[in-house]
Amino acid sequence: MNKKHQLIKGFSKQSKAAKLEWVANNYTPDADATVEDMKGFWHSDEKLQKILDGFSENTISNYMMPYGIAPNFIINDKVYAIPMVIEESSVVAAAASAAKYWSDKGGFKAEILGTKKVGQVHFSWKGDSEKLFQHFDKIKEVLHHDTEPITRNMRKRGGGILEMELLDFTDLEPNYYQIRATFETCDSMGANFINSVLEAFGQSLKIYVIENDDFQEEEEELTVIMAILSNYTPECVVRASVECPLEAFNINGKDNSAFAKKFEKAVKIARLDPYRATTHNKGIFNGIDAVVLATANDFRAIEACGHAYAARDGQYRSLSQCEIKDGKFRFWLDIPLAVGTVGGLTSLHPLAKRTLEILGNPSAEELMQIIAVVGLAQNFAALRSLVTTGIQKGHMKMHLQNILNHLEASEMEGEKVLKHFEDKTVSFTAVREYLQTLRKEYV
Ligand code: MEV
Repeated sequence: MNKKHQLIKGFSKQSKAAKLEWVANNYTPDADATVEDMKGFWHSDEKLQKILDGFSENTISNYMMPYGIAPNFIINDKVYAIPMVIEESSVVAAAASAAKYWSDKGGFKAEILGTKKVGQVHFSWKGDSEKLFQHFDKIKEVLHHDTEPITRNMRKRGGGILEMELLDFTDLEPNYYQIRATFETCDSMGANFINSVLEAFGQSLKIYVIENDDFQEEEEELTVIMAILSNYTPECVVRASVECPLEAFNINGKDNSAFAKKFEKAVKIARLDPYRATTHNKGIFNGIDAVVLATANDFRAIEACGHAYAARDGQYRSLSQCEIKDGKFRFWLDIPLAVGTVGGLTSLHPLAKRTLEILGNPSAEELMQIIAVVGLAQNFAALRSLVTTGIQKGHMKMHLQNILNHLEASEMEGEKVLKHFEDKTVSFTAVREYLQTLRKEYV
């Protein structure tokens, strides 16, 4: 172990500046430069900085990400300019280009297929399973009753607890049962609401068994293992789609039925091969995560759920599907998206607030539709490149600015490089060599 790397006690109690200094002194070669760099990203508005620091523990700086806009999205006949937070250079450009492509073909359609969220109370019970099932209707009543104070507001908004079922998993794990509950959480993502209800369920369930005369045998002790929402929400799903006559599905105005067939085949490959499916779905999440982040929703939850859903029949598959039938091209994406437009960080994060404004302050359902459409658009743009020019052409063109920055090219050099590579393949080495030639010329 590097002798400078000491364990530390009470780190979380230190001031932000002290934490930064400690990290810089102990873990970086030039402490002063690190401190200066990191402080350079502190927000000048102290009130705002305090809000940002409040989101997490042990913050020492802010991490910047580009906030871009993909305009010209027509979704259910409404036009959107969609904010996207992402560091990968070609993603926003690809979304914008797909939006434009479909804008004269009727745009995108999106529909909600369901909005149910899920939560679980996992518990152990050594007693007679039948007895538990016999009591379950009564238990449900008690759980509903005991959580009324927590669910009141949500019920007023039209949501709350939908269903509860008792599941017996004792054939898989001794004494293991579960209450699986479903919830409607309206415009909020609902994690806090669901978790509060579930923890209360756990307590009430235990008390029910302790206090009920039918459950007084020694082995009838009930242990709540844990109570937590499930991020797998296969009934909180949105469908985004595009459709056009086959002859309209062209590139640069040229009829290209070979393009349509290759495109359809590319989707089929991603449905049958998990290696390709993973990359294909990664492309979908390029778009989805970017909007989820811009609205300060939980992208880890969205990713975890999306990938589980992609494997719901036992094999990991493409989330999108394509069909050429009766002279029509159809491309669609079904994806579970548990997102909110109220609560959580959505109104606390200053830029998330702006994102929602730019999107016209959508309901959670409308936001699900927007996000799914961006996922589909992203997937469309990636496949269009892959089955035609290949991905690197556009990708490296977008990456060129990063290479120029890395090589510290001046504005004038940058212009010359852009011109030079207009009709050439961009690579880091090629750009570096061309810059060297340019620089030799001045000498
Ligand atoms: C790159 O971030 C995403 C792609 O690889 C997606 C795909 O292959 O479909 C281009």
